[in-house]
Amino acid sequence: MNTKHILELNQAGLLADVLGFETDEVAGQTAGSHVSTLSGREFVDFTGGIAVHACGHCHPNVVAAIQAQAAQVLHTSDTMRHAPQLELADFLRGKLASAGVESAAFVFMNSGSESNDGAAKLALKVTGRKKLVAFVGAFHGRTMLCSALSRSKTAHWQSLEPFLTPLRQHILHAPAPRCAGCTMDSPSCCNVGLEALFAEYGDDIAAVFFEAQQGEGGYLPRTPESGKRLRELCNKHGALLIADEIQAGMGRTGRWFAFEHLGIVPDIVVFGKAVGGGMPLAGIAARAELLARWTPGEHGTTFGGNPVSCAAGLAAMRLMDEEGLVERAARLGEEAKARLRKLVGSHGVVDVRGNGFMLGIELRTPEDKPDYARLDILKDACREQDLLVLTCGAKLGDPKADCAVIRLIPPLNTPEDILWHGIGIVERVISAP
Ligand SMILES: Cc1ncc(COP(=O)(O)O)c(C=O)c1O
Repeated sequence: MNTKHILELNQAGLLADVLGFETDEVAGQTAGSHVSTLSGREFVDFTGGIAVHACGHCHPNVVAAIQAQAAQVLHTSDTMRHAPQLELADFLRGKLASAGVESAAFVFMNSGSESNDGAAKLALKVTGRKKLVAFVGAFHGRTMLCSALSRSKTAHWQSLEPFLTPLRQHILHAPAPRCAGCTMDSPSCCNVGLEALFAEYGDDIAAVFFEAQQGEGGYLPRTPESGKRLRELCNKHGALLIADEIQAGMGRTGRWFAFEHLGIVPDIVVFGKAVGGGMPLAGIAARAELLARWTPGEHGTTFGGNPVSCAAGLAAMRLMDEEGLVERAARLGEEAKARLRKLVGSHGVVDVRGNGFMLGIELRTPEDKPDYARLDILKDACREQDLLVLTCGAKLGDPKADCAVIRLIPPLNTPEDILWHGIGIVERVISAP
């Protein structure tokens, strides 16, 4: 690679700004918890490619699996099944069975968005009903359907009208799951709002999409009580419960699936991000008899479940198992949260929350408003000290849902010295005068 040439290309306006790249740097070499850039900087990465790198960047097992698979079967599409997809499905079936989802079958896709689209199609098909519910603060993806389901940032959909209006006639939103301090009986409770939707549209609601720990909406974990109520309501009204585990699943929260924290079992599980070990992969899991009601042609993909992606994912998932990375994330995540909680009550920090290695630090202004402006300042300050972090939080103009949050999603195998080094930078940056 000609570094000088690539850096010149990087200045040539070749890539549109819509993806909102976090830095102007160009990645040179990534390994483990580190990202080196072509301009010679080295960052500690607490973003993990947006919650993808459970086993760190370019883990040798994952790289070897990709190389071996690429030389064997590169792509088959729907023309033929292949070994890595079957083995990954078998692995995930075992993990889902431990989480209470019996005899799961799978449909593998490329991205979380198209998998949520698929889950919605499946729910509409098997129930014969016409409406879908999601929660305020939710983010379910970027297709038109997922944009209509999502409600975390106005910017995600405001340019899509009038096309979303017809979709929105079939999509209902319950209040944001703000479980901390919720007595579960006020109209702002997510389940009270959901109950009201069921009272009005019950027989027409096919499914409820939920995130056990809301991601884009502000790293908000539900409580088990809230999860159980959600499950009961869906049971009572015959609606399917769809767990969007795309960000929070695959060990990220210190359990294989984030819904396990709630002690409930969803009907459909949508997964993505980490499942491909850094390669594009996502999918839908459900009890085999439920998925069997979806007939050939009702959903499809050319590249979804690609052999190389499945081989990479399988290598990553096996490594997580062998090295106990999920339990490690649970333990170290609690330690990190306890340490960061010492900031609560000062420097604008009002909450530190989340499970495992999916931690959020909420900031508000002295006027008690979400401090979006400070998020960017703190993110930049971390980057100046060679630490990459992301932010999240609903931005809707809705005081009940809006929040400004720094999010920490390091690889689950981040070495302890690097983890505490990064946490130290976050603490110092936040408490700097
Ligand atoms: C909870 C959740 N659902 C869905 C998506 C969309 O996934 P993808 O970007 O792979 O389409 C994301 C992506 O951030 C997500 O966090």
